[in-house]
Amino acid sequence: MRLSIFRYDPERDPKPYMQDFEVVPAPTDRMLLDVILRVRDEQDDSITLRKSCREGVCGSDAMNINGRNGLACITPIAGLKEPVVLRPLPGMPVVRDLVVDLTQFYEQYYSIRPYLMNDEPAPQKERLQSPEDRAKLDGLYECILCACCTTQCPSFGWNPDKFVGPAGLLQAYRFIIDSRDRATRERLEDLNDAYRLFRCRTIMNCTEVCPRGLAPSRAIEKIRLIMAGARK
Ligand code: SF4
Ligand code: SF4
Ligand code: FES
Repeated sequence: MRLSIFRYDPERDPKPYMQDFEVVPAPTDRMLLDVILRVRDEQDDSITLRKSCREGVCGSDAMNINGRNGLACITPIAGLKEPVVLRPLPGMPVVRDLVVDLTQFYEQYYSIRPYLMNDEPAPQKERLQSPEDRAKLDGLYECILCACCTTQCPSFGWNPDKFVGPAGLLQAYRFIIDSRDRATRERLEDLNDAYRLFRCRTIMNCTEVCPRGLAPSRAIEKIRLIMAGARK
C-alpha cells in the first residue's frame, strides 16, 4: 500500500513536504490507522499523529484523507485510492506532521457556553426531563469534537476567529433546545450576529464529513428558524 504523508517539523524543516511510503499491511490491518502505525513502527518513528481509542470515540486521529476529513481509525483501507494522501486538518496551525493546534476550534466551542445554564434552585435529586425532551438531544450530544466538520468548512477557514463553526453551533443548538436550560434567549442573542452564526453559507461540507453521522448544517438551520420565530 502506498501512502503520501505530510511532514513538517517547524523547528527543523524550512517548509512542509510530502513523504512517500510503501508498506505491506498485515492481515489484521483493517483500518487506515493500523497502516499508519505500521509505517511508523517499521519505517519512521518520527511520524507524528494523535490517536487514542482506535474506535471512533475520542476524535483525536482526525486528519485529511485523500482530501476529505475523517478519522483514520474507522476508515477501512479497502477501497482507499492510492497513494493515500494524508494531511493535517486544513486551516489549523501545524504543530508537527499530522498534529494541529486546535486552540481556535476549542475557543469557538467554549464561546457558546457548552453547559446547562439554570439559576432555579436545584431539586433534591436531579433536574428531570421527559423522554420526549430527552429524545430531542439525539443526534446532538454524540459529537466527539473531532473538528472534522469545522476544519472542512470554508466559512470557518475564512473567519476562524469570528464564525463559531459547525461543531460549536451543533452544541449551541443542543443547549438551546434542552428543556432544562433557562438561557435560550441569551444564547440566541449571542449568536444573532453577522459572523457568529450567519457566516454559514449552507455549503454542507460539515454534514458530509461528520464521522458520527451528525448533521451540524441542520442544527444551524434550526437555530435560524428559532431566531426567526422569536423575532415575530
Ligand atoms: S453548512 Fe455552514 S457550517 Fe456547514 S460547512 Fe457549510 S458553511 Fe460551514
Ligand atoms: S459534529 Fe461530527 S465532525 Fe463535527 S466535531 Fe462533532 S463529531 Fe466531529
Ligand atoms: S483514535 Fe479515537 S477516534 Fe480514532
